[in-house]
Amino acid sequence: TWRMDAFVENSIKEIREKVGDGKVLCALSGGVDSSVAAVMLSKAIGNQLTCVFVDQGLLRKDEGDEVEEVFGPNGSYDLNFIRVNAQERFYSKLAGVTEPEQKRKIIGEEFIRVFEEEAKKIGAVDFLVQGTIYPDVVESGLGGESAVIKSHHNVGGLPDYVDFKEIIEPLRNLFKDEVRKAGLEMGIPEKLVFRQPFPGPGLGIRIIGEVTAEKVKIVQEADAIYREEIANAGLDKSIGQYFAALTNMQSVGVMGDERTYDYAVALRAVNTIDFMTAESAEIPFDVLQKVMSRIINEVKGVNRVFYDLTSKPPGTIEFE
Ligand code: XMP
Repeated sequence: TWRMDAFVENSIKEIREKVGDGKVLCALSGGVDSSVAAVMLSKAIGNQLTCVFVDQGLLRKDEGDEVEEVFGPNGSYDLNFIRVNAQERFYSKLAGVTEPEQKRKIIGEEFIRVFEEEAKKIGAVDFLVQGTIYPDVVESGLGGESAVIKSHHNVGGLPDYVDFKEIIEPLRNLFKDEVRKAGLEMGIPEKLVFRQPFPGPGLGIRIIGEVTAEKVKIVQEADAIYREEIANAGLDKSIGQYFAALTNMQSVGVMGDERTYDYAVALRAVNTIDFMTAESAEIPFDVLQKVMSRIINEVKGVNRVFYDLTSKPPGTIEFE
């Protein structure tokens, strides 16, 4: 029978043999896949590994700091950690852009540029790590699925612009649940291992229309409240994926005796087996009401909250 502890031990040994005394570069997103890959590499080759983490200003609330806590100099792993605070750069590239695919393209390209600059500073590397997992391999076209509904910028794009000899993809044969098991096996905190899927373009595709620093702040705050209340209700492990998004709609409301003209936040929660199809999750009405009232009271700039009932298809899970 197939055992995870043996798989992890074997992978570490194989990486060690393959890398020798070479230098390895990893793009760390803070997501489950790249985190598990990075930890595996760190266990195999320690500080021959450098992880570059680009904070593009489109992460969930406090997420950049959380990643730094785990992987940074005060964290638990032996590796070189570089955090690039590129928020302003991304916001200025995105200014005035409203078309979804255009936004994805800009975020993807800017990410590559930032990463490339860091790679140049590091100098020659021998290997590049990618947190590719089995479903990515299938979805990126090798398995025959050809229609690109949305461009997934973190699959397949990296290799041409950094100078390296070979790619290491230690999770290439694993399904998501196996990646999580491998993570737990290596002692990665549960909070990280059970992190929800988060798209490469981040909050950029959860803000309909133009992305601004102000809108990012609004959606971060609303999303943090939503996640907190879902966890308080004990639903965080049973819903497939859930998040707040900022619609580009403003409408009239009343706060105290003042007229408001503010944004509407949409709450999304779906259950899904493979993320190719999904159904909206049934969240108890009192939980939704609590989230609504907290968002409206605590997040400046929001006066309306919607719950998205749309299945996939015809909707997609993300809004863009
Ligand atoms: P959609 O919106 O296409 O999302 O129904 C399906 C799943 O994929 C995630 N997603 C992405 N993940 N890069 C990613 O790594 C992306 O560009 C991207 N776009 C969507 C989404 O969060 C959901 O889990």
